[in-house]
Amino acid sequence: MSKETNQQWGGRFSEPTDAFVARFTASINFDQRMYRQDIQGSVAHAKMLTKAGVLTVGECAEIEQGLSDIQAEIESGRFEWSIALEDIHMNIEAALTKKIGATGKKLHTGRSRNDQVATDIRLYLRDEIDNILLEITRLQQGLLTLAQGEADTIMPGFTHLQTAQPVTFGHHLLAWFEMLSRDYERYVDTRKRVNVSPLGAAALAGTTYPIDRQMTSDLLGFDRPAENSLDAVSDRDFAIEFCATSSILAMHLTRMSEELVLWASAQFNFVNLPDRFCTGSSIMPQKKNPDVPELVRGKSGRVYGHLMSLLTLMKSQPLAYNKDNQEDKEPLFDTIDTIKGCLRAYADMVPALESKKQQMREAALRGFSTATDLADYLTRGGMPFRDAHEVVGKSVAYGIQQNKDLAEMSLAELQVFSADIKADVFEVLTLEGSVAARDHIGGTAPNQVRAAVKRGEKLLASR
Ligand code: ARG
Repeated sequence: MSKETNQQWGGRFSEPTDAFVARFTASINFDQRMYRQDIQGSVAHAKMLTKAGVLTVGECAEIEQGLSDIQAEIESGRFEWSIALEDIHMNIEAALTKKIGATGKKLHTGRSRNDQVATDIRLYLRDEIDNILLEITRLQQGLLTLAQGEADTIMPGFTHLQTAQPVTFGHHLLAWFEMLSRDYERYVDTRKRVNVSPLGAAALAGTTYPIDRQMTSDLLGFDRPAENSLDAVSDRDFAIEFCATSSILAMHLTRMSEELVLWASAQFNFVNLPDRFCTGSSIMPQKKNPDVPELVRGKSGRVYGHLMSLLTLMKSQPLAYNKDNQEDKEPLFDTIDTIKGCLRAYADMVPALESKKQQMREAALRGFSTATDLADYLTRGGMPFRDAHEVVGKSVAYGIQQNKDLAEMSLAELQVFSADIKADVFEVLTLEGSVAARDHIGGTAPNQVRAAVKRGEKLLASR
């Protein structure tokens, strides 16, 4: 066994790291995806050290050139990653020193991997939140366009998954739009707490060099430097918050998925999912499976799981940095990838959804969906609502017996239950009458759906 110890920190060691321990403690296999942020952070740090008089202008230029060459090597797949060099930070620093010599060794002045890694993750996450925000908007735009075209389409609305009252399909789609608006706001809010600069906290206590933390914060587009060095290098609450925000979004996507799966079934038969978003069965030739919504529904599991991983990872950690925190990356990265994948699938699929208007309408005609309208009609005529409820309940029981919807009964049949029922009752018993009557902000009337689409368009345009 060679006696050579680690070139970055081996000074006080008398033997090299055990080969398994080196692999076990390395993060390079998963943290290399932060290479751009790591380089970005190093360039800002070098510029700041130059202004502080710690590096010369020439040294800074050498470092910048070296890092830019390294970035090109990584991007062209020529860079050789080393497990012995543990992580992205030491891989890049060692490559820099190999490239430009002794000046490369000066880059780490006044810095630690502890503030470096915290900076990298925040930069990485900030970029990905911005990508996620764009995808949410794309999905929401698809919903608005679809809702506009479906403002007059009538379907049964459900409570307890039992037919309740008729609604418009456009109104239902706009309920999804609202859920996503709140998810969007939650990501915007999470981003504020992500976008704070840990750089300059160094290992834990700050540094003795005359650093300018405001300068690196500004150069990296952070809102401000983190207030406390111990907190800056140790807490990963921003990553936990991102996973919580993502879990709520994932939960919303499961609700949409569940409805699409139901609606695409032969039993509901409300929508057609285009073939390109479905797959077949290897044994049952008739099958067309709604794989995309099912998979999105299933992927919520790993997103919730990552939230629990990070909460548990952070729990009880004493200040300041602990190696535990290296375990923050895989759950965080997988959450990002999963959420982006789900959003992309949905944003591509939603504009291609086709409603089956006739089937939706027929379903709304079954299940006495206008029963509440009849009760409201009687109440408008002076009958107390509770009595009207009773009268309509009896008419429904009769309808079940005769296999007839309320609108299919004759006036004489209806009048058996109340003499207050007149010929004009049929206006409120139609599906169109029922939805048009719910004509207020947030109601299902086609007019209101079109107005809500307009407000939605305005909201998206303001982002
Ligand atoms: N790879 C480490 C991480 O991801 C970087 C920070 C290591 N710092 C240390 N003092 N060992 O957390």
